[in-house]
Amino acid sequence: MESGVDIEKLSVRIKEKVLLRGVSLHVKTGETHILMGPNGSGKTTLARAILGDKRYTVTDGKIEFNGADLLKLKPHERARLGIFVSFQEPVALQGVNTLSFLKTAYESVNSTKITTSEFKKIVGKYLEKVGLPESINERHVNEGFSGGEKKKFELLQLLLLKPKVAILDEIDTGLDLDAMKALSSTVNEMLPETGFLIITHSDRILKHIKPTLVNVMKDGSIIRSGGMELVEEIEKGGYKID
Ligand SMILES: Nc1ncnc2c1ncn2[C@@H]1O[C@H](COP(=O)(O)OP(=O)(O)OP(=O)(O)O)[C@@H](O)[C@H]1O
Ligand SMILES: [Mg+2]
Repeated sequence: MESGVDIEKLSVRIKEKVLLRGVSLHVKTGETHILMGPNGSGKTTLARAILGDKRYTVTDGKIEFNGADLLKLKPHERARLGIFVSFQEPVALQGVNTLSFLKTAYESVNSTKITTSEFKKIVGKYLEKVGLPESINERHVNEGFSGGEKKKFELLQLLLLKPKVAILDEIDTGLDLDAMKALSSTVNEMLPETGFLIITHSDRILKHIKPTLVNVMKDGSIIRSGGMELVEEIEKGGYKID
């Protein structure tokens, strides 16, 4: 069965400020949707609303996953169903060891228990792919990580958790060339089993990833959807489109 996230006419506000106005998007397994748009247009808000961030109030519309109402579920319940959101600005978790953080997430999502040594082997394989040193296992989550290391750590979580739908919020920002290649090959390898919503400001990621649909958000609404020609238009003329 085809699965995925269906966002239908979603409106969201924070306090009295309206941030999303009737956004519709359908991200199916095997599809790659790109979301672009000027700063402050509502892209991160959409990612957070899909994950279930309590600060945002959904005033209208729906978010469903395989027909189930996601809006009724808590963030960890959504994660267990296979929804993954990588953060634009990953926060440091003081005193939280990276390996135990990853292990907890892995065990929760897979409803399983695994020994630390078994888990270390799985992580080791992916550390190499994303280009992080093994010493990262001894550190605290995002504490003192460089900008690129934080993004690589998000990529590591994506590889480990193998979600059904992954929302990547500017995961490409600050990645070096090798890490960009690791990101695009990860997306392409996971694609048959996963649907992607990739939020980006750059066409760099699109060199090796073929988008199903490119969407442009402005002032809380999706104003245009199309193919690569839309990206070229933006690269040339910025967001002076409507
Ligand atoms: N807690 C908050 N209180 C007030 N306004 C907020 C709050 N959170 C977000 N906003 C506003 O909502 C708007 C949308 O923000 P959002 O982070 O979704 O933008 P974005 O499209 O992701 O931008 P960028 O490309 O810069 O990441 C912005 O104007 C932002 O200031
Ligand atoms: Mg953002």
